[in-house]
Amino acid sequence: MSNMRGWFVQNSHMKASDSELDDNEITSSPQREKWCGHQFLFKFQGFWFTKTYLETTKRVVETLKPLTGDVILASFPKTGTTWLKAILHSILHPSPQHQNHPLALNHPQELVPSLETNLYVDKGTELDGGYKNPEFLAVKDPQEARILATHIPYQILGDILNSSDCKVVYVTRNPKDTLVSLWHFLQKSSDVEKDPWEVGAAVDQFCRGVVPFGPYYDHVLAYRQESLNRPEKVYFLTYEDLKEKSKNHVRKLGEFLGCPFDQSEKGEEKIDEIVKMCSFETLSSVEVNKSEETSSVFPLPYSSFFRKGEIGDYKNYLEEKMIARIDSVTEEKFHGCGFMYGI
Ligand code: A3P
Repeated sequence: MSNMRGWFVQNSHMKASDSELDDNEITSSPQREKWCGHQFLFKFQGFWFTKTYLETTKRVVETLKPLTGDVILASFPKTGTTWLKAILHSILHPSPQHQNHPLALNHPQELVPSLETNLYVDKGTELDGGYKNPEFLAVKDPQEARILATHIPYQILGDILNSSDCKVVYVTRNPKDTLVSLWHFLQKSSDVEKDPWEVGAAVDQFCRGVVPFGPYYDHVLAYRQESLNRPEKVYFLTYEDLKEKSKNHVRKLGEFLGCPFDQSEKGEEKIDEIVKMCSFETLSSVEVNKSEETSSVFPLPYSSFFRKGEIGDYKNYLEEKMIARIDSVTEEKFHGCGFMYGI
């Protein structure tokens, strides 16, 4: 069910030897590095993937044909994807606030599936497990927006995104909170419990870019550049700005997606409702979102996607020297490109 599912399905079923390269395509992947939980990451076109995600990413690249009405939610893991899934779904599928509201009954990850982790997982793999959503890819009305999420970098998916008139929404988050959120998320995996991923190792791998879908910095910069080149097609926002100016972003996203809110009191009320419904406080108290149960294919609890939802939590986990190291990479990569963000 989740955008992180592959990591943990592997974690929960694989022994170290299982992560050896075993198919021709992947064997041609020149570089690999041990990551956490006995897993390896493989380098492909400058980015790092788990074995599962490398396969599904290639499948997406080979077969995805975005439609004009599609909305692609792109992000690096742990930057606010779930939040944006809820917001985009609310804007594009408006529903009165009542107990049957889609977000009151469904986990946002289920309302908005991810390409490489849900929809392009081959039948017969461990990931399949009976959870398939072909209906999400079936096109009923070509004008009707499908919302599809992905962590695939723009450097790999860009040609496909540009081949259609689809719109892209990209969310990012400051690197230190992103890393800490990722680190927490992984602590829930039983394999990581057995083979701990220490914070120091996580900082080192993050700074070197060796995390799934990393390097984080290259991921962010390419989508940002595309939003500067094609602002009418790519909407770039940060987690922090969304927190601070939620209403503003919901209003602007409505315009960007071609369904502007009324400039009336009613329109304002609708925006308020979406902001409230999608807030961390509301969503994290929804039964399914706080459930400690796991779906048949996802070994982590549904609640894993809602931890703290705060800005600056990294201060509680990273030592000064770790912060300094990440900040120096941020300065070089982001500030060096004129993107004054992340420190
Ligand atoms: P923390 O671990 O810092 O709490 P993703 O959805 O990309 O996996 O990101 C998960 C992060 O977003 C987690 O951060 C999670 O708590 C936070 N999050 C989830 N829903 C949110 C919401 N509605 N508002 C703000 N943050 C949210």
